[in-house]
Amino acid sequence: MLMRFFPTSAIGTCVWLAIFAAVALSVPASAQTFDFGTAPTAAEIAAINIDAMPDGRGLPAGKGTPSEGKAIYVDNCAACHGTDLQGVKDAGGAPLVGGRGSLMSGSPKKTIESYWPYATTVFDYVKRAMPFNAPGSLNDNQVYAVTAYILYRGDLIGEGDIINAKTLPRVDMPNKNGFIADPRPDVNTYR
Ligand code: HEC
Repeated sequence: MLMRFFPTSAIGTCVWLAIFAAVALSVPASAQTFDFGTAPTAAEIAAINIDAMPDGRGLPAGKGTPSEGKAIYVDNCAACHGTDLQGVKDAGGAPLVGGRGSLMSGSPKKTIESYWPYATTVFDYVKRAMPFNAPGSLNDNQVYAVTAYILYRGDLIGEGDIINAKTLPRVDMPNKNGFIADPRPDVNTYR
């Protein structure tokens, strides 16, 4: 009975193939759209496009100090991370300092100061992702400055230190040896 619906002549087959092809082409999976968001512009991508390595490769030009960073922090970060960088639970902002030496205890507190192995990650992460509600809104000098302020508040640099592409990789992170290097030969672990 089913055959009745499908013409068997060569022309009929072509007609059916054409219909199947037309239907298939009209709804490609990638054409699915949603009612929110916009395609990012080249400028929007450029504002968060960074690949900063632990040894400083990929860090942009620019610089900042803790005192410059304090004002930027208060205006752009404190609402979610707290005026003392202690975190704000309701806003979802993690504590950024404290907890040094706590990782082996019953209540480990992971922060930049206590946990992060590389200071360059602070610049990389903040430029990419923060402020949470407006990533890409800070320029490179502002990101250097706010990075300097966080490192200063974590007792990792001095109040007058200048943070730039040369000095940031040299900041000594307390937990730098707290990770196991990836043994795969094709993976560069920067040790
Ligand atoms: C609107 C709230 C909000 C603002 C404003 C904000 N953050 Fe965040 N921040 C978050 C949240 C939420 C996370 C966790 C994000 C995640 O896990 O994906 C986070 C994570 C971070 C982390 C990673 C912490 C960790 O140890 O994992 C850093 C560093 C950070 N923010 C720095 C900043 C800086 C610097 C600013 C200001 C320039 C800022 N944030 C502004 C909400 C905020």
